[in-house]
Amino acid sequence: MLERIRAEIAGAGGWISFARYMELALHAPGLGYYSRGARQFGAEGDFVTAPELGSLFGRTLARQLKELDGPILELGAGSGALAETLVKELGRQYFILETSAALRERQAKRLGDRVKFLEHLPERFRGVVIANEVADALPVHAVTWRADGVNERGVTHELQWAERPATGEVLREARAIEVPVPYESELGLAARGWMRSLAASLEQGVIFIIDYGFPRHEYYHPQRSMGTLMCHTRHRAHGDPFLHPGEQDITAHVDFSALAAAAQESGLDLLGYATQAQFLANCGITDVLGQANVENALHYAPIAAEAQQLLSPAEMGELFKVLAVGRGADGMHPPLLGFSRGNRSNTL
Ligand SMILES: C[S@@+](CC[C@H](N)C(=O)[O-])C[C@H]1O[C@@H](n2cnc3c(N)ncnc32)[C@H](O)[C@@H]1O
Repeated sequence: MLERIRAEIAGAGGWISFARYMELALHAPGLGYYSRGARQFGAEGDFVTAPELGSLFGRTLARQLKELDGPILELGAGSGALAETLVKELGRQYFILETSAALRERQAKRLGDRVKFLEHLPERFRGVVIANEVADALPVHAVTWRADGVNERGVTHELQWAERPATGEVLREARAIEVPVPYESELGLAARGWMRSLAASLEQGVIFIIDYGFPRHEYYHPQRSMGTLMCHTRHRAHGDPFLHPGEQDITAHVDFSALAAAAQESGLDLLGYATQAQFLANCGITDVLGQANVENALHYAPIAAEAQQLLSPAEMGELFKVLAVGRGADGMHPPLLGFSRGNRSNTL
C-alpha cells in the first residue's frame, strides 16, 4: 500500500490531495482498507456499525421500508448483516452495490441467492436506496482557512501533511463557508458527487442516508476548528491518517446540509432529517424491543444493550442522523414514518 501511495505521490510531483490519499488508502483495488479481505466489522474487527450490533436496527428500519414500494438497493453492505435482516423482514427483491470485491465475496457467501449484486448504479431505479455508514467512507478534501487565504492540505512522499493554496472547486466551496481563522476541516466533495449520481439513477422512490454528521452550521462550528477526521483500528479511535495506510479505517463526519443541497439541486425532494434515536423511536423500536422475551434475561439483556447503543445520546443516538430524499413519492404522504416527530429538515 505504501509503495502504491508513494509511487502516485512521486508521479504527481511530490504531493497529492488528501482526498486522493484517502481514496487510495481505503479503496485501492486489493490494497485499500475496504478492498482487502480483512475483517473490519464487529467485535473482532476495528469498529462496530449499527447492523453489526444485532438485528434490532434492521428490524426497526424494516417498519419504515414496509411503507414504501419497490425493491431495495443497499449501497456498501459491509458484512451483509443489514441485508440479511431486511431480506428476512421484507421478503423483497434486494440489490447490493458494493465497491470492495473482498466484501462482495463475503456478502455473497452470507446471503447466497437472496440478493443480487450490481456492478454500477442502475440507469433508472424505482424503489428504496439505503446507505448505512457509506458516506463517511467517501474521500474528503482537507482544507485550512488562514488569514491570507484558503490552503488545501495534501500528502508528501514522507506521508506528512503539506499545504498548498487551494484552487478550483475546493477553493470555491471553501470560500462559501464562514469560519474563524485559522481553521481546519474537510470538504465532502465526493459525497456530493455521489449524491448527484444517486439522484440521477433514482427515477422514483426514496434514498435513506444514515451516518454520523451534522448540518453545516454545526459541522463548521467555531469550536470544531480541527475538523472531523477520525481513524479506527481495533476499536481505538485516533486522528493520524498516515498510520499503517490500508490497515485502518479513515473517516470524516458527513455534512448533511451539503448532501441535502446536492440532492435538491438534482431535483429530489427533501423528505426528512432526524437523529437516529428519533428516527428509530418514530419507527417503533420500543414495539420491536417489546417482542423480546423480558422474562429470559439471557435473551433480553443483549437486545436491551443494543437498544441502548442505538438510542443513547452518548452512543449513536444523537451523533448519527438519518436523511431521506426522494423523487415522485406519489401516494406516499410525507412525513415518512421515521420523521413523523422531531423532523429537523429545517436545520439543514
Ligand atoms: C463503514 S462500512 C459500512 C458497512 C455497512 N453498511 C454497515 O453498516 O455495517 C462502508 C461500506 O461501504 C463500502 N463502500 C465505500 N464506498 C462505496 C461506494 N462508493 N459505493 C458502494 N459502497 C461503498 C465499503 O466497501 C463498505 O462495505
